[in-house]
Amino acid sequence: MTTTEPTTETARFTRMDESTAEQWAEIGRQTFGHQARVAEKVLELLAELATITDGFAVDQLTHCLQTATRAERGGASTEMIVASLLHDVGKIVAVVNHPAIAAEILKPYVSDDVYWLIQVHQDFQGQHYYEHFGMDPAARERHRGHRGFELAQRFADEWDQTSFDPSYDTLPLEHFAPLVHELFATPIRLAAEGQRLTTSANVSTEIASAPTAATR
Ligand SMILES: [Fe+2]
Repeated sequence: MTTTEPTTETARFTRMDESTAEQWAEIGRQTFGHQARVAEKVLELLAELATITDGFAVDQLTHCLQTATRAERGGASTEMIVASLLHDVGKIVAVVNHPAIAAEILKPYVSDDVYWLIQVHQDFQGQHYYEHFGMDPAARERHRGHRGFELAQRFADEWDQTSFDPSYDTLPLEHFAPLVHELFATPIRLAAEGQRLTTSANVSTEIASAPTAATR
């Protein structure tokens, strides 16, 4: 039988109920030290969207890049540009629940309004095509009055629904990579707990002190 000898950096517990605060502090330190892999993984997922076209005039990577390009040229914030880039990334897993998948990837790194906007973006997009499915094109109206309504409307009407144009001057993924790294460098809350994190300096400590949120 092969066994792996623990190093000083490797926690020795084989069950969580035998773990110690010191071990979790080390796991938190290493987890935060590897934070850059989040952005790298997100960029890999985005690149894979080029394999999905499913009858549209452009593939899903081009659609996402074009949406983000329009957002950037429209003066959107960094988090809104990156959210525009990722809004359909969930399609790499499944189309039916893709807004929720994208929203959860973004949740620890963006404001409540941007998280909400990505969750509900189909309701706003519906104005432009739901009639073809016998669904309510005014689905967005159920959200009227929400603080993010105007931005969600602009996202859908000006940036998302217009971005199936093969002739548009779409910026490449490499253009957005620095913004993706910038946004995903620092979680501002632990998604599982909805807990706010204050500065990057205390992230490893807070991850260590809330191991269920960091590791589930
Ligand atoms: Fe879209």
